[in-house]
Amino acid sequence: MTKNLTDHVVIITGASAGIGQGAALAIAARGAGVIATYHSHPEGADEVVSTVKANGGRAVALPLDIGRTETFPAFREQVSTALADEFDTASIRGLVNNAGFGGGFAFDEMTEEAFDRYYRVLLRGPYFLTQTLLPLLSDGGSIVNVSSSSVRPGDTTVGYSGYAAMKAGLTTATRYLAKELAVRGIRVTSIAPGPTRTRLGGDAFEKYPEVIDELAAKTVLGRIGEPADIGAVIAFLLSEDAAWITGEEIQVSGGYAL
Ligand SMILES: NC(=O)c1ccc[n+]([C@@H]2O[C@H](COP(=O)([O-])OP(=O)(O)OC[C@H]3O[C@@H](n4cnc5c(N)ncnc54)[C@H](OP(=O)(O)O)[C@@H]3O)[C@@H](O)[C@H]2O)c1
Repeated sequence: MTKNLTDHVVIITGASAGIGQGAALAIAARGAGVIATYHSHPEGADEVVSTVKANGGRAVALPLDIGRTETFPAFREQVSTALADEFDTASIRGLVNNAGFGGGFAFDEMTEEAFDRYYRVLLRGPYFLTQTLLPLLSDGGSIVNVSSSSVRPGDTTVGYSGYAAMKAGLTTATRYLAKELAVRGIRVTSIAPGPTRTRLGGDAFEKYPEVIDELAAKTVLGRIGEPADIGAVIAFLLSEDAAWITGEEIQVSGGYAL
């Protein structure tokens, strides 16, 4: 793999588990320093930091609740301090808006409170975190938003209307930001993972392993995804190898529900 993110720093939200962890490790493998955010599992982010450091890279962990936009200015200050103290730079090259949660509600059971939580964490949070961190993002940098295959017509699972509506909003905002930020050479893309073995949905894969075979049967490559499968594509999109890709959503699902 080309180490073409060397001397750059990338922030990955929700890097204490699953896809975010996979992304942080793949980004570090391309030579970047990583800022790994966590919410309720600092130990997951610490694991990323120690693995990256053991491989000769640079990494720090910072707390962030993506649902609380009022904390974002203070988070930016923490990022600036970490950049100066740990990475000897003032800017980031990339932002991965990954933090999120899953699970569904039948339409007639959806409450406004639950709907607002999807909105705050899956759409409002990444949107305004991007705005908050934009002054730190270097020209020519890159943003990757983690959407979901549930946005596609072929993957319409009953109970996911709230979740998928927010992910669809993120996918659409991606295209608009790609146009608006292109003036600074900033590329904005999104990825749509299919079913991936993470803790999503309250550890659903751990609790209900029988669904894994069902999902694998609907996936043309015959298995569910692993965090490393998704992380590799995120790292690619951030890198110069993807310098001619912007505004796109890339399905990363092994052909789920094709
Ligand atoms: N797994 C799939 O099948 C799948 C498919 C399509 C899309 N996705 C998307 O992929 C992204 C990552 O999910 P995952 O599957 O890797 O799940 P995961 O293993 O549960 O990891 C979720 C990550 O997001 C963080 N997080 C959750 N709520 C947060 C909040 N309010 N503020 C800040 N961070 C928060 C968690 O931090 P703590 O653990 O520290 O609390 C954790 O690091 C999500 O956006 C999800 O919608 C997943």
